[in-house]
Amino acid sequence: MLPAIVSILPHFVFGLADCIIVGSCFSTKKTMELEFPQRPVSESVEFYVKFASALLFVVLVAAWSKKRKGRLPPGPFPLPIIGNLHMLGALPHRALAALSMKHGPLMSLRLGSVLTLVVSSPEVAREFLKTHDQLFANKPPSAAAKHLSFNFSDFGFTSYSPYWRQLRKLCSLELLSPRRLDYFRFIREEEVSTMIRSIVNSDDSRPLNINQTLASLGTAIICRMAFGRKYSDQDLRGFSSMVRESFFLLGSFNIGDYIPYLDWMDLQGLNRRMKKLQKTQEHLLEKVIDEHIARNDPNVTHDLVDILLAASADKDREFQISRDGIKGVLFDMLLGGSDTAAIVIEWAMSEALRNPPVMKKLQDELERVVGLGRMVCESDLPRLVYLQAVVKETLRLYAPGSFLTRYLSAQSCNVLGYEIPHNTLVLVNIWAIGRNPMSWQDAGNFRPERFMEKVGSEIDANGDQNFGFVSFGAGRRRCPGQQLGTLVAEFGLAQLLHCFNWRLPLDDINRENEELDMTEMFCGILLRKARELSAISTPRLECIAHLK
Ligand code: HEM
Repeated sequence: MLPAIVSILPHFVFGLADCIIVGSCFSTKKTMELEFPQRPVSESVEFYVKFASALLFVVLVAAWSKKRKGRLPPGPFPLPIIGNLHMLGALPHRALAALSMKHGPLMSLRLGSVLTLVVSSPEVAREFLKTHDQLFANKPPSAAAKHLSFNFSDFGFTSYSPYWRQLRKLCSLELLSPRRLDYFRFIREEEVSTMIRSIVNSDDSRPLNINQTLASLGTAIICRMAFGRKYSDQDLRGFSSMVRESFFLLGSFNIGDYIPYLDWMDLQGLNRRMKKLQKTQEHLLEKVIDEHIARNDPNVTHDLVDILLAASADKDREFQISRDGIKGVLFDMLLGGSDTAAIVIEWAMSEALRNPPVMKKLQDELERVVGLGRMVCESDLPRLVYLQAVVKETLRLYAPGSFLTRYLSAQSCNVLGYEIPHNTLVLVNIWAIGRNPMSWQDAGNFRPERFMEKVGSEIDANGDQNFGFVSFGAGRRRCPGQQLGTLVAEFGLAQLLHCFNWRLPLDDINRENEELDMTEMFCGILLRKARELSAISTPRLECIAHLK
């Protein structure tokens, strides 16, 4: 906006000069024809009003540009009304990473009227996710988050508060703790075997769509763990499409969130989609809760729904959990558990297929540790160290999440010498941090060995102390499902590569450079492979024939 203001300033200045010389704002040519100094009172009032407005304008511009320059991080110049929204493009993580190369790892811009900071380096990420973690532990109150979290009754989208802490603790202890994950191991083993059976029974002369093969793996596992049972094919399709649409809506740059007075127009049709999705979500989750209430059988193992129902009946709790609260938490679990691991497996298989030495090392390790006489068991995973490194390297280069979002709501705060006002949105660019050349040697290349060397091994379940690997987030809001997500990704990948040999169908190879298409697609919160991976399988183990 500053160039625009600068360009109209001369008009004001010359207009002012006119005013001062002849007491009016007419052009000089015209003033020559006027009889000086006959001037009615109304004209002189007009003169003072114009003079005062021009002065006020100059003072405001000076104050505004001083504030912008002196106290906020540098960034691209925003246009009136839309700010920098036009710069995001179809792949915002890449567009913002490119802008950061020019403006720095802490960059400020305007998305509509919302002041937004973009973080693109580990050092700056540490400031927001560790040093000032508590202040930045809130999530942006977007329309999609409000609609889909049952008005912020869940814990994935609600603000940082004792209510959030209570729900997060409940899920972490009852569903995602190491003890519970151990208990639910049989579910993961059964569901991974079901996936392998579906491949054994597929038409092996045709390429298999890996994305579709993996589609219901995560959903089936999380449904059985949290809801106590798998839902029918039809229900599962309902869940899967609900989850995909939710990810899309939650991560879309909804104009109404950034330019509130345009919200009522719903220019992108997103509000309409949110309301429709909310109805589906309500219907599916109400059904799950009603089934649990109707069952009321003390002999059945208690799942997360039972635990949440019991907690909501407990009147002594500090914070009451409403029925919306239960639905919100169940939705968080479905959202987190459904697609994320499948996305990681699809990228990892793509890398292995286009890098034959990686595929060979993976299969050699499986043969050495598991042997060709049986399928992989989850208990084999700790000894599959190369496979673990492949999953980590995949998460570094192709993290399913594009940005970590934070919101500074209540008070302003000083970060790295900048005064950050309240109501500021913070986007931590996971994609840019994972590929930062200062943290990672040969950053753009797929090299799993880096995680078997000393530095890589520092990245464990508690995250990366250096903030160069934030694929599961960091700080108070970091992912509570990291261990489950990693287990499903490692186990699914290991089983697929141990049970079958894989090759690419010819039409998936771009003949010019013999490269598999590895471009990504921004689907709201998630980054997926733009072109779904298809591959041809041939059995590697004799023992899987019995699955037919
Ligand atoms: C490979 C798998 C996964 C990846 C890459 C992943 C990634 C992430 C990321 C980046 C965040 C945001 C963290 C932050 O803002 O600092 C997050 C949050 C979250 N994830 Fe995951 N996730 C995965 C699996 C799961 C699973 C299996 C679940 C649960 C069943 C889950 C549940 C959640 C929840 C509830 C949150 C919100 C936490 C909060 O706001 O307090 N995630 N995840």
